[in-house]
Amino acid sequence: MNISVIGLGYVGFPLALQAASKGHNVVGVEKNLGIIYTVNKGETHLDEEFIHDLLSNTKIQAQDKVENSDAYIICVPTPVTKTKLPDLGLVKKATEEVAEIIQDNQLVVIESTIYPGVCEEIVKPILDKTGKKYLLAHCPERINPGDKKWNVGNIPRVVGGLDNESTEKAKRLYESIIDAEIVGVSQIKAAEATKILENTFRDVNIAFVNEMAQSFYRMGIDFAEVIKGSSTKPFGFMAHYPGVGVGGHCIAVDPYYMIEKGKASGFDHEFLTLARKINSNMPIYTVKLIQNELNELELPIKGTKIGIYGLSYKPDVADERESPSYNVIKRLRNRSADLVIYDPYMKNESDVEGLNEFFKEAECIVVCTAHSEIKNIDYDILKKNNVKLVVDGRNCLNKEEINKLGIRYVGVGRK
Ligand SMILES: NC(=O)c1ccc[n+]([C@@H]2O[C@H](COP(=O)([O-])OP(=O)(O)OC[C@H]3O[C@@H](n4cnc5c(N)ncnc54)[C@H](O)[C@@H]3O)[C@@H](O)[C@H]2O)c1
Repeated sequence: MNISVIGLGYVGFPLALQAASKGHNVVGVEKNLGIIYTVNKGETHLDEEFIHDLLSNTKIQAQDKVENSDAYIICVPTPVTKTKLPDLGLVKKATEEVAEIIQDNQLVVIESTIYPGVCEEIVKPILDKTGKKYLLAHCPERINPGDKKWNVGNIPRVVGGLDNESTEKAKRLYESIIDAEIVGVSQIKAAEATKILENTFRDVNIAFVNEMAQSFYRMGIDFAEVIKGSSTKPFGFMAHYPGVGVGGHCIAVDPYYMIEKGKASGFDHEFLTLARKINSNMPIYTVKLIQNELNELELPIKGTKIGIYGLSYKPDVADERESPSYNVIKRLRNRSADLVIYDPYMKNESDVEGLNEFFKEAECIVVCTAHSEIKNIDYDILKKNNVKLVVDGRNCLNKEEINKLGIRYVGVGRK
Protein backbone atom coordinates (compact mmCIF):
# COMPACT_ATOMS: atom_id res chain seq x y z
CA MET A 1 0.00 0.00 0.00
CA ASN A 2 0.98 3.63 -0.32
CA ILE A 3 1.07 4.90 3.24
CA SER A 4 1.60 8.40 4.62
CA VAL A 5 2.75 8.47 8.23
CA ILE A 6 2.09 11.93 9.60
CA GLY A 7 4.43 12.95 12.44
CA LEU A 8 7.86 11.29 12.51
CA GLY A 9 8.49 11.32 16.26
CA TYR A 10 8.89 8.49 18.77
CA VAL A 11 5.70 6.88 17.44
CA GLY A 12 5.56 7.71 13.74
CA PHE A 13 9.18 7.18 12.71
CA PRO A 14 9.58 3.56 13.90
CA LEU A 15 6.13 2.73 12.50
CA ALA A 16 7.03 4.25 9.12
CA LEU A 17 10.26 2.23 8.98
CA GLN A 18 8.52 -0.95 10.13
CA ALA A 19 5.83 -0.53 7.42
CA ALA A 20 8.51 0.12 4.79
CA SER A 21 10.45 -2.96 5.93
CA LYS A 22 7.32 -5.03 5.18
CA GLY A 23 7.22 -3.79 1.59
CA HIS A 24 4.82 -0.85 1.85
CA ASN A 25 5.57 2.33 -0.01
CA VAL A 26 5.89 4.81 2.85
CA VAL A 27 6.15 8.58 2.90
CA GLY A 28 6.85 10.30 6.20
CA VAL A 29 5.21 13.68 6.67
CA GLU A 30 6.87 16.00 9.17
CA LYS A 31 6.84 19.71 9.99
CA ASN A 32 10.28 19.75 11.58
CA LEU A 33 12.73 20.44 8.74
CA GLY A 34 15.67 19.07 10.73
CA ILE A 35 13.91 15.71 11.02
CA ILE A 36 13.06 15.70 7.29
CA TYR A 37 16.72 16.37 6.48
CA THR A 38 17.99 13.62 8.77
CA VAL A 39 15.44 11.03 7.61
CA ASN A 40 16.12 11.73 3.93
CA LYS A 41 19.81 11.07 4.53
CA GLY A 42 18.79 7.62 5.78
CA GLU A 43 19.75 8.57 9.34
CA THR A 44 17.81 8.81 12.58
CA HIS A 45 17.03 11.59 15.03
CA LEU A 46 16.10 8.95 17.63
CA ASP A 47 18.82 6.80 19.13
CA GLU A 48 17.07 3.43 19.46
CA GLU A 49 18.65 0.07 18.70
CA PHE A 50 15.49 -1.10 16.94
CA ILE A 51 15.50 1.97 14.69
CA HIS A 52 19.19 1.53 13.81
CA ASP A 53 18.45 -2.11 12.91
CA LEU A 54 15.56 -1.14 10.63
CA LEU A 55 17.60 1.62 9.01
CA SER A 56 20.32 -0.83 8.05
CA ASN A 57 18.06 -2.14 5.27
CA THR A 58 15.12 0.26 5.02
CA LYS A 59 14.76 3.87 4.07
CA ILE A 60 11.75 6.15 3.84
CA GLN A 61 11.23 9.47 2.17
CA ALA A 62 10.25 12.44 4.32
CA GLN A 63 8.52 15.64 3.25
CA ASP A 64 6.41 18.41 4.73
CA LYS A 65 3.24 17.83 2.67
CA VAL A 66 0.79 14.94 2.76
CA GLU A 67 0.40 13.24 -0.59
CA ASN A 68 -2.31 11.02 -2.02
CA SER A 69 -2.10 7.62 -0.27
CA ASP A 70 -4.14 4.48 0.38
CA ALA A 71 -3.74 5.04 4.14
CA TYR A 72 -2.90 8.08 6.28
CA ILE A 73 -1.63 7.28 9.77
CA ILE A 74 -1.65 10.28 12.10
CA CYS A 75 0.98 10.21 14.88
CA VAL A 76 1.14 13.85 16.00
CA PRO A 77 1.48 15.01 19.63
CA THR A 78 -1.55 15.36 21.91
CA PRO A 79 -0.34 17.52 24.80
CA VAL A 80 -2.26 19.40 27.50
CA THR A 81 -2.45 23.17 27.84
CA LYS A 82 -0.92 25.07 30.78
CA THR A 83 -4.21 24.58 32.62
CA LYS A 84 -4.11 20.82 31.91
CA LEU A 85 -6.83 20.79 29.29
CA PRO A 86 -6.55 18.48 26.23
CA ASP A 87 -4.92 20.25 23.29
CA LEU A 88 -6.10 18.53 20.12
CA GLY A 89 -4.94 21.32 17.79
CA LEU A 90 -2.30 19.20 16.06
CA VAL A 91 -4.67 16.26 15.48
CA LYS A 92 -7.19 18.68 13.95
CA LYS A 93 -4.52 20.31 11.78
CA ALA A 94 -3.17 16.97 10.52
CA THR A 95 -6.71 15.75 9.77
CA GLU A 96 -7.44 18.97 7.84
CA GLU A 97 -4.32 18.42 5.76
CA VAL A 98 -5.46 14.87 4.97
CA ALA A 99 -8.99 16.14 4.19
CA GLU A 100 -7.58 18.38 1.48
CA ILE A 101 -6.48 15.41 -0.61
CA ILE A 102 -8.42 12.34 0.57
CA GLN A 103 -10.21 10.22 -2.04
CA ASP A 104 -12.95 7.56 -1.82
CA ASN A 105 -12.05 4.31 0.00
CA GLN A 106 -8.87 5.71 1.54
CA LEU A 107 -8.19 4.94 5.19
CA VAL A 108 -7.37 7.39 7.97
CA VAL A 109 -5.92 5.94 11.20
CA ILE A 110 -5.34 7.98 14.32
CA GLU A 111 -2.49 6.58 16.45
CA SER A 112 -2.10 9.63 18.71
CA THR A 113 -3.44 9.15 22.23
CA ILE A 114 -6.89 10.71 22.54
CA TYR A 115 -9.91 10.47 24.83
CA PRO A 116 -12.95 8.37 23.87
CA GLY A 117 -15.01 10.33 21.37
CA VAL A 118 -12.27 12.32 19.59
CA CYS A 119 -12.47 10.30 16.37
CA GLU A 120 -16.24 10.66 16.09
CA GLU A 121 -16.60 14.18 17.52
CA ILE A 122 -13.52 15.93 16.10
CA VAL A 123 -11.88 13.89 13.31
CA LYS A 124 -15.04 12.62 11.59
CA PRO A 125 -16.70 16.06 11.11
CA ILE A 126 -13.52 17.34 9.39
CA LEU A 127 -13.46 14.33 7.02
CA ASP A 128 -17.24 14.45 6.46
CA LYS A 129 -16.91 17.91 4.93
CA THR A 130 -14.92 16.38 2.04
CA GLY A 131 -17.98 14.44 0.86
CA LYS A 132 -15.70 11.42 0.16
CA LYS A 133 -16.43 7.84 1.23
CA TYR A 134 -13.44 7.51 3.58
CA LEU A 135 -12.64 4.85 6.19
CA LEU A 136 -11.60 5.85 9.71
CA ALA A 137 -10.04 3.83 12.55
CA HIS A 138 -8.14 4.32 15.77
CA CYS A 139 -5.13 2.15 16.60
CA PRO A 140 -3.55 3.49 19.80
CA GLU A 141 0.24 3.32 19.91
CA ARG A 142 1.93 1.40 22.71
CA ILE A 143 5.57 2.03 21.95
CA ASN A 144 7.94 2.16 24.90
CA PRO A 145 11.14 4.00 23.91
CA GLY A 146 14.27 2.53 25.48
CA ASP A 147 12.66 -0.91 25.76
CA LYS A 148 15.04 -3.55 24.38
CA LYS A 149 12.39 -6.27 24.12
CA TRP A 150 9.17 -4.58 23.01
CA ASN A 151 9.09 -2.43 19.89
CA VAL A 152 6.61 -1.35 17.26
CA GLY A 153 7.20 -4.62 15.39
CA ASN A 154 6.18 -7.01 18.16
CA ILE A 155 3.68 -5.23 20.42
CA PRO A 156 0.07 -6.43 19.98
CA ARG A 157 -2.36 -3.71 18.92
CA VAL A 158 -6.02 -2.86 19.31
CA VAL A 159 -7.99 -1.48 16.37
CA GLY A 160 -11.48 0.00 16.30
CA GLY A 161 -13.16 1.51 13.25
CA LEU A 162 -16.05 3.82 12.55
CA ASP A 163 -17.80 0.85 10.93
CA ASN A 164 -16.97 -2.80 10.20
CA GLU A 165 -15.33 -2.01 6.89
CA SER A 166 -13.00 0.52 8.57
CA THR A 167 -12.10 -1.93 11.35
CA GLU A 168 -11.40 -4.73 8.88
CA LYS A 169 -9.31 -2.59 6.55
CA ALA A 170 -7.26 -1.14 9.42
CA LYS A 171 -6.83 -4.59 10.96
CA ARG A 172 -5.52 -6.00 7.67
CA LEU A 173 -3.15 -3.05 7.28
CA TYR A 174 -1.66 -3.54 10.75
CA GLU A 175 -1.45 -7.31 10.28
CA SER A 176 0.69 -6.61 7.22
CA ILE A 177 3.03 -4.35 9.24
CA ILE A 178 3.28 -5.86 12.71
CA ASP A 179 4.32 -9.37 13.78
CA ALA A 180 1.91 -9.56 16.71
CA GLU A 181 -1.79 -10.00 17.36
CA ILE A 182 -4.07 -7.23 16.09
CA VAL A 183 -7.26 -7.22 18.13
CA GLY A 184 -10.38 -5.66 16.64
CA VAL A 185 -12.94 -4.01 18.92
CA SER A 186 -16.52 -3.25 17.98
CA GLN A 187 -16.44 0.53 18.47
CA ILE A 188 -13.89 3.21 17.63
CA LYS A 189 -14.60 4.61 21.13
CA ALA A 190 -13.60 1.30 22.70
CA ALA A 191 -10.21 1.47 20.97
CA GLU A 192 -9.74 5.03 22.25
CA ALA A 193 -10.71 3.89 25.74
CA THR A 194 -8.21 0.97 25.84
CA LYS A 195 -5.27 3.36 25.68
CA ILE A 196 -6.74 5.65 28.34
CA LEU A 197 -7.35 2.62 30.59
CA GLU A 198 -3.77 1.37 30.16
CA ASN A 199 -2.20 4.70 30.99
CA THR A 200 -4.51 5.74 33.82
CA PHE A 201 -3.94 2.25 35.31
CA ARG A 202 -0.24 3.12 35.52
CA ASP A 203 -0.82 6.59 36.93
CA VAL A 204 -3.22 5.37 39.62
CA ASN A 205 -0.96 2.49 40.67
CA ILE A 206 2.12 4.70 40.80
CA ALA A 207 0.17 7.21 42.92
CA PHE A 208 -0.80 4.34 45.22
CA VAL A 209 2.81 3.29 45.81
CA ASN A 210 3.92 6.91 46.13
CA GLU A 211 1.39 7.31 48.94
CA MET A 212 2.36 4.03 50.61
CA ALA A 213 6.05 4.97 50.38
CA GLN A 214 5.50 8.19 52.32
CA SER A 215 3.50 6.44 55.03
CA PHE A 216 5.85 3.45 55.44
CA TYR A 217 8.80 5.84 55.58
CA ARG A 218 7.36 7.43 58.73
CA MET A 219 7.02 3.95 60.24
CA GLY A 220 10.66 3.16 59.50
CA ILE A 221 9.79 0.43 57.00
CA ASP A 222 11.93 0.00 53.88
CA PHE A 223 9.31 0.16 51.13
CA ALA A 224 11.66 -1.19 48.44
CA GLU A 225 11.95 -4.37 50.50
CA VAL A 226 8.17 -4.49 50.96
CA ILE A 227 7.60 -4.30 47.19
CA LYS A 228 10.13 -7.07 46.67
CA GLY A 229 8.33 -9.15 49.29
CA SER A 230 4.86 -8.56 47.83
CA SER A 231 6.18 -9.37 44.35
CA THR A 232 6.82 -12.96 45.41
CA LYS A 233 3.04 -13.49 45.37
CA PRO A 234 2.56 -15.25 42.03
CA PHE A 235 -0.92 -13.85 41.37
CA GLY A 236 -2.99 -10.73 42.07
CA PHE A 237 -0.06 -8.35 42.66
CA MET A 238 1.81 -6.25 40.13
CA ALA A 239 4.77 -4.23 41.34
CA HIS A 240 4.81 -0.48 40.76
CA TYR A 241 7.56 1.75 42.08
CA PRO A 242 7.55 5.10 43.89
CA GLY A 243 9.76 7.98 42.78
CA VAL A 244 10.36 11.71 42.41
CA GLY A 245 7.39 11.98 40.08
CA VAL A 246 5.73 10.77 36.90
CA GLY A 247 6.82 12.24 33.58
CA GLY A 248 6.41 11.63 29.88
CA HIS A 249 3.90 12.57 27.24
CA CYS A 250 1.55 9.70 28.20
CA ILE A 251 1.08 8.85 31.86
CA ALA A 252 1.48 12.43 33.07
CA VAL A 253 -0.90 13.71 30.39
CA ASP A 254 -3.55 11.16 29.37
CA PRO A 255 -5.41 11.08 32.71
CA TYR A 256 -6.26 14.78 32.16
CA TYR A 257 -7.84 13.83 28.82
CA MET A 258 -10.09 11.35 30.60
CA ILE A 259 -10.84 13.70 33.51
CA GLU A 260 -12.01 16.40 31.08
CA LYS A 261 -14.00 13.97 28.95
CA GLY A 262 -15.62 12.61 32.13
CA LYS A 263 -16.57 16.17 33.18
CA ALA A 264 -18.09 16.84 29.77
CA SER A 265 -20.27 13.76 30.12
CA GLY A 266 -21.26 14.69 33.70
CA PHE A 267 -18.88 12.35 35.54
CA ASP A 268 -16.34 13.37 38.15
CA HIS A 269 -13.20 11.18 38.03
CA GLU A 270 -12.19 11.48 41.69
CA PHE A 271 -9.75 8.57 41.53
CA LEU A 272 -7.85 9.90 38.51
CA THR A 273 -7.80 13.43 39.92
CA LEU A 274 -6.36 12.22 43.22
CA ALA A 275 -3.73 10.11 41.45
CA ARG A 276 -2.64 13.13 39.40
CA LYS A 277 -2.46 15.22 42.57
CA ILE A 278 -0.33 12.68 44.46
CA ASN A 279 2.04 12.13 41.54
CA SER A 280 2.33 15.85 40.75
CA ASN A 281 3.25 16.50 44.39
CA MET A 282 6.17 14.05 44.42
CA PRO A 283 8.75 16.70 43.43
CA ILE A 284 7.57 18.75 46.45
CA TYR A 285 7.98 15.69 48.66
CA THR A 286 11.45 15.08 47.21
CA VAL A 287 12.62 18.62 47.92
CA LYS A 288 11.34 18.35 51.52
CA LEU A 289 13.24 15.08 51.84
CA ILE A 290 16.44 16.72 50.59
CA GLN A 291 15.95 19.61 53.00
CA ASN A 292 15.26 17.36 56.01
CA GLU A 293 18.20 15.08 55.29
CA LEU A 294 20.59 18.01 54.82
CA ASN A 295 19.31 19.36 58.15
CA GLU A 296 20.20 16.08 59.84
CA LEU A 297 23.76 16.59 58.59
CA GLU A 298 23.66 20.24 59.65
CA LEU A 299 24.13 21.30 56.06
CA PRO A 300 22.21 24.29 54.65
CA ILE A 301 20.22 23.96 51.43
CA LYS A 302 21.84 27.24 50.34
CA GLY A 303 25.56 26.69 50.37
CA THR A 304 25.66 22.93 49.84
CA LYS A 305 26.41 21.85 46.29
CA ILE A 306 23.50 19.62 45.24
CA GLY A 307 23.98 17.35 42.25
CA ILE A 308 20.89 16.50 40.20
CA TYR A 309 21.40 13.26 38.28
CA GLY A 310 18.97 12.68 35.41
CA LEU A 311 16.79 15.04 33.40
CA SER A 312 14.84 12.61 31.23
CA TYR A 313 11.61 11.23 32.60
CA LYS A 314 12.70 7.61 32.28
CA PRO A 315 15.92 5.59 32.14
CA ASP A 316 18.26 5.41 29.18
CA VAL A 317 16.42 7.80 26.86
CA ALA A 318 16.82 11.51 26.12
CA ASP A 319 13.11 12.33 26.42
CA GLU A 320 12.53 15.16 28.89
CA ARG A 321 8.82 15.75 28.28
CA GLU A 322 6.96 16.46 31.55
CA SER A 323 10.01 15.22 33.44
CA PRO A 324 9.73 15.75 37.21
CA SER A 325 13.46 16.55 37.35
CA TYR A 326 12.73 20.09 36.17
CA ASN A 327 10.18 20.60 38.92
CA VAL A 328 12.70 19.43 41.54
CA ILE A 329 15.32 21.78 40.04
CA LYS A 330 12.90 24.74 40.01
CA ARG A 331 11.93 24.18 43.65
CA LEU A 332 15.54 23.84 44.77
CA ARG A 333 16.51 27.01 42.88
CA ASN A 334 13.63 28.82 44.61
CA ARG A 335 15.40 27.91 47.84
CA SER A 336 18.66 29.39 46.46
CA ALA A 337 20.28 25.96 46.18
CA ASP A 338 23.59 25.74 44.36
CA LEU A 339 23.08 22.99 41.76
CA VAL A 340 25.18 20.92 39.42
CA ILE A 341 23.10 19.09 36.82
CA TYR A 342 24.07 16.03 34.82
CA ASP A 343 22.32 13.65 32.44
CA PRO A 344 24.46 11.42 30.20
CA TYR A 345 21.72 11.49 27.53
CA MET A 346 21.33 15.26 27.63
CA LYS A 347 24.82 16.67 27.57
CA ASN A 348 23.63 20.03 26.21
CA GLU A 349 21.65 20.67 29.37
CA SER A 350 24.32 19.29 31.71
CA ASP A 351 26.72 21.43 33.74
CA VAL A 352 29.48 18.80 33.64
CA GLU A 353 30.93 16.46 31.03
CA GLY A 354 30.69 13.18 32.86
CA LEU A 355 30.02 11.24 36.04
CA ASN A 356 33.51 11.76 37.52
CA GLU A 357 33.24 15.52 37.31
CA PHE A 358 29.68 15.33 38.68
CA PHE A 359 30.76 13.42 41.78
CA LYS A 360 33.73 15.72 42.23
CA GLU A 361 31.47 18.75 42.48
CA ALA A 362 28.41 17.54 44.43
CA GLU A 363 28.17 17.04 48.17
CA CYS A 364 24.56 15.84 47.97
CA ILE A 365 23.47 13.62 45.07
CA VAL A 366 19.82 13.50 44.03
CA VAL A 367 19.01 10.67 41.61
CA CYS A 368 15.99 11.68 39.52
CA THR A 369 16.41 9.15 36.68
CA ALA A 370 17.59 5.56 37.03
CA HIS A 371 19.87 5.49 33.98
CA SER A 372 21.95 2.28 33.73
CA GLU A 373 25.08 4.38 34.21
CA ILE A 374 24.17 5.38 37.77
CA LYS A 375 22.77 1.95 38.65
CA ASN A 376 26.12 0.40 37.76
CA ILE A 377 28.45 2.84 39.52
CA ASP A 378 31.41 1.73 41.52
CA TYR A 379 30.38 2.98 44.97
CA ASP A 380 33.95 3.89 45.88
CA ILE A 381 33.56 6.92 43.60
CA LEU A 382 31.27 8.41 46.28
CA LYS A 383 33.87 8.02 48.97
CA LYS A 384 36.76 9.21 46.83
CA ASN A 385 34.92 12.46 46.36
CA ASN A 386 33.16 14.54 48.93
CA VAL A 387 29.64 13.05 48.79
CA LYS A 388 27.87 13.29 52.15
CA LEU A 389 24.28 12.51 51.24
CA VAL A 390 22.57 10.43 48.56
CA VAL A 391 18.86 11.06 47.90
CA ASP A 392 17.86 8.13 45.73
CA GLY A 393 14.69 9.36 44.05
CA ARG A 394 14.34 6.08 42.12
CA ASN A 395 15.40 3.58 44.79
CA CYS A 396 17.91 2.27 42.28
CA LEU A 397 21.11 2.34 44.36
CA ASN A 398 22.48 -0.07 46.93
CA LYS A 399 21.60 1.43 50.32
CA GLU A 400 23.84 -0.95 52.27
CA GLU A 401 26.90 -0.22 50.11
CA ILE A 402 26.40 3.51 50.54
CA ASN A 403 25.87 3.28 54.29
CA LYS A 404 28.97 1.10 54.58
CA LEU A 405 30.97 4.03 53.19
CA GLY A 406 29.62 6.21 56.01
CA ILE A 407 27.50 8.22 53.59
CA ARG A 408 23.90 9.05 54.48
CA TYR A 409 21.31 7.44 52.19
CA VAL A 410 17.61 8.11 51.77
CA GLY A 411 15.25 6.80 49.12
CA VAL A 412 11.55 7.27 48.41
CA GLY A 413 10.06 5.25 51.27
CA ARG A 414 13.40 3.95 52.57
CA LYS A 415 16.29 5.14 54.70
N1 LIG B 1 6.37 8.48 22.69
C1 LIG B 1 5.72 7.43 23.17
O1 LIG B 1 6.29 6.61 23.86
C2 LIG B 1 4.23 7.26 22.92
C3 LIG B 1 3.66 6.02 23.24
C4 LIG B 1 2.32 5.83 22.97
C5 LIG B 1 1.56 6.87 22.46
N2 LIG B 1 2.14 8.09 22.18
C6 LIG B 1 1.29 9.12 21.61
O2 LIG B 1 1.61 9.25 20.22
C7 LIG B 1 1.47 10.62 19.81
C8 LIG B 1 2.78 11.11 19.21
O3 LIG B 1 3.77 11.04 20.22
P1 LIG B 1 5.31 11.12 19.92
O4 LIG B 1 5.99 10.75 21.19
O5 LIG B 1 5.65 10.38 18.68
O6 LIG B 1 5.49 12.70 19.64
P2 LIG B 1 6.76 13.43 19.04
O7 LIG B 1 6.70 14.82 19.51
O8 LIG B 1 7.98 12.60 19.28
O9 LIG B 1 6.51 13.39 17.47
C9 LIG B 1 5.44 13.99 16.82
C10 LIG B 1 5.93 14.62 15.54
O10 LIG B 1 4.81 15.13 14.83
C11 LIG B 1 5.24 16.27 14.12
N3 LIG B 1 4.04 17.00 13.68
C12 LIG B 1 3.20 17.76 14.40
N4 LIG B 1 2.19 18.22 13.62
C13 LIG B 1 2.40 17.72 12.39
C14 LIG B 1 1.70 17.81 11.16
N5 LIG B 1 0.56 18.50 11.03
N6 LIG B 1 2.22 17.18 10.09
C15 LIG B 1 3.34 16.47 10.19
N7 LIG B 1 4.05 16.33 11.33
C16 LIG B 1 3.57 16.94 12.41
C17 LIG B 1 6.13 16.97 15.09
O11 LIG B 1 7.00 17.87 14.44
C18 LIG B 1 6.86 15.80 15.76
O12 LIG B 1 8.11 15.53 15.15
C19 LIG B 1 1.00 11.37 21.05
O13 LIG B 1 -0.41 11.41 21.05
C20 LIG B 1 1.50 10.51 22.18
O14 LIG B 1 0.75 10.68 23.36
C21 LIG B 1 3.47 8.29 22.39
